Amino acid sequence: MKIAILGYGVVGSGVAEVLKTNATQITKKTGKKIEVKHVLDLRDFPGDPHEALMTKDFAVIENDPEVKIVVESIGGETAAYDYTKRAILSGKSVCTPNKALIAKHGAELFALAKKKGVNMLFEASVGGGIPLIRPYIDALCTDQIQAVAGILNGTSNYILTQMSENGTSYATALKDAQNLGYAEQDPTADVGGYDACRKLCILLSLAVDKQVNYENVRTEGIENISTEDFAFGKALGFTLKQIVSGKVYESGVGALAAPFFVPLAHPLAAVNDVYNAAWVTGKTTGNVMFYGSGAGKLPTASAVVSNIVDAAHMQPLVHGWAPEEAKILPADKYVTRKIIRVTCENPAEIKKAATLPQYPNQAAWITTAESEEQTAKSLAEIKKTSGIKTIERVLRIYG
Ligand code: HSE
Repeated sequence: MKIAILGYGVVGSGVAEVLKTNATQITKKTGKKIEVKHVLDLRDFPGDPHEALMTKDFAVIENDPEVKIVVESIGGETAAYDYTKRAILSGKSVCTPNKALIAKHGAELFALAKKKGVNMLFEASVGGGIPLIRPYIDALCTDQIQAVAGILNGTSNYILTQMSENGTSYATALKDAQNLGYAEQDPTADVGGYDACRKLCILLSLAVDKQVNYENVRTEGIENISTEDFAFGKALGFTLKQIVSGKVYESGVGALAAPFFVPLAHPLAAVNDVYNAAWVTGKTTGNVMFYGSGAGKLPTASAVVSNIVDAAHMQPLVHGWAPEEAKILPADKYVTRKIIRVTCENPAEIKKAATLPQYPNQAAWITTAESEEQTAKSLAEIKKTSGIKTIERVLRIYG
């Protein structure tokens, strides 16, 4: 069974490595020897063991009838979209970890693959190395998914954990995440919440069989999180995580990607470093948590290789994700408790507020559960209160 790899970056080179490392087990399971025939990349890799297989011309792969499976690990939505479409049209199955591609063009690519009788598989697109997409579709398809939440970006979870546990600065933690191969080339989507939001929308689209458009989901990142946020959160019994939260209602889908305080006793509070978790609530199944490495070369590559094995067996992924757009409910109606932190003249005078000796002019307290629009009104009142100088931060509480 001959395959081609598009993009020889972190994941693409990881796929070649996993295929080599696990060759015996894979052949035993599939009865086939999976062989990389071409590797497409615009860069040169002198001395690399796959140097002789390198090509810069996609047509070489497209026109090679021996190649039955294409791994798209270029990333982004331009070349990745073009090549994926052309690969399917030339009768090849495609396996991709590319969440941007699936979140935007998934419905179209699935329909095309069905028409051509090939597989379009995307296990590694959500949760990196966690076996998530297939069990999510297979095991929960008989249930109604009511909510999907979790930590779905390894980079931001790694950064927040390092800041919280080791007092590492945001800039240093981000640089480390890049060196470890967790972050995207341009990490804006990681720290800005967009990567996690796209992954949430993939899970929600599968839950409602419609396109949940990530462009319409309120998305906030971790760029401005400070040591004060961790300190006051801890004093009130919370840790801070980049959370995605989606709910399925009769009237539409509620979705949000943002930093949230998580109660220390909640299972998501224990998901640290590059680990991810998807917390799925089914109507009859109840809560299920999928947990594992959310990013990184070999875990992500292993999930892609599991798809190669599926494609080699022609094991389809049966789901009903259609192009029709799902209605996304206005984020202003999203109800949560929140923690408000202020700078003020006399922190000790604020009822039920946490105060900390190292921040003598600040106080933080927990609100009751209220919608975003109610909070906006309360904040306008708080600003007018005598003794309050600045509202430093307002962050939602999960759960
Ligand atoms: N940059 C992504 C993350 C990679 O940090 O989660 C896995 O999708």
